[in-house]
Amino acid sequence: MAMGEAAPVMEEVAARLEQAFGRPDAVRFHISPLGGVVAELATPQSRATVALKGAQVLSWRPQGRDEVLWLSPAARLDGPKAVRGGIPVCWPWFGPHPSDASAPAHGLVRTAPWQIAESEHSAGSASVTLAFNVEPDETAFWPHAARVSLRVEAGEDLRLTLTTENTGDAPFGLTAALHSYFAIGDIAAVEITGLEHRDFIDQLQPGKTIPAGQRPVRFDRETDRIYTSAPEDVLIRDPSLRRMIRIAKSNSPSTVVWNPWIEKSERLGDLGEDGYRRMVCVETARIGCDAARIAPGRSLSMETCLSVEPLV
Ligand code: BG6
Repeated sequence: MAMGEAAPVMEEVAARLEQAFGRPDAVRFHISPLGGVVAELATPQSRATVALKGAQVLSWRPQGRDEVLWLSPAARLDGPKAVRGGIPVCWPWFGPHPSDASAPAHGLVRTAPWQIAESEHSAGSASVTLAFNVEPDETAFWPHAARVSLRVEAGEDLRLTLTTENTGDAPFGLTAALHSYFAIGDIAAVEITGLEHRDFIDQLQPGKTIPAGQRPVRFDRETDRIYTSAPEDVLIRDPSLRRMIRIAKSNSPSTVVWNPWIEKSERLGDLGEDGYRRMVCVETARIGCDAARIAPGRSLSMETCLSVEPLV
């Protein structure tokens, strides 16, 4: 489905998907008020919304609890821009393109129209798998054939599995991220634990690696850090919302921690008033020395699993 598609076309797409992949009371397709087709996953444990645009998870709400993901008030699915919030997929490069400054930041698929490949429903979970094929001549920025898919499974936890298959005949390098925006009560009060004793690359001081600190990460200014080879679970401790969000991951050794603070929010223009206070990004990624190399015919899966616990 192309961007900015008319409502009747979207209705047709949603109806076709409902027929092929809908599962009663568990996986439904409809047009979101944000102007695009979404899949709704519903289980007794949680509900999630996933947009076809960018295969972006927009919402995850465990039963009886508050929304876990932050979404910009300016988010639209029918515009050309990437949606700020939820979980954008950065693929097949993270940040700026390695050699071409004219290429889009964070890769090729954030605004792409993904296809639904599969849906599943079991006693404790509902899932949908979205896929996108890149043909080598489709972009000069990344001349490789590949298939990328994202399986989103909602249940007790929210589990995302991003799989890259090399469908071409030459190996390629890959960086990627599940650029997760979390809703928080107040940026000044949250802390992130699990990254203590780890050096990090400070993206605000290019080329600089900062030696490990002893304390949890706290925020009082713009923060943009890449931790590589950081396998541990990371926790967002949020006293205002009295909860902890656990970000567990596998085969994704990098973690990015980002908050734009005031000036960058103004430059970006889509954070909303005081949006930076209500969000923090903790991204499950493969970047820098953790970049992957995938041989023809091989595939690589990265996974993140989000869960919420009370903060006592
Ligand atoms: C983060 C990067 O992952 O994404 C930041 O570390 C970047 O440097 C941020 O500013 C947002 O990127 P974008 O392209 O969505 O504005």
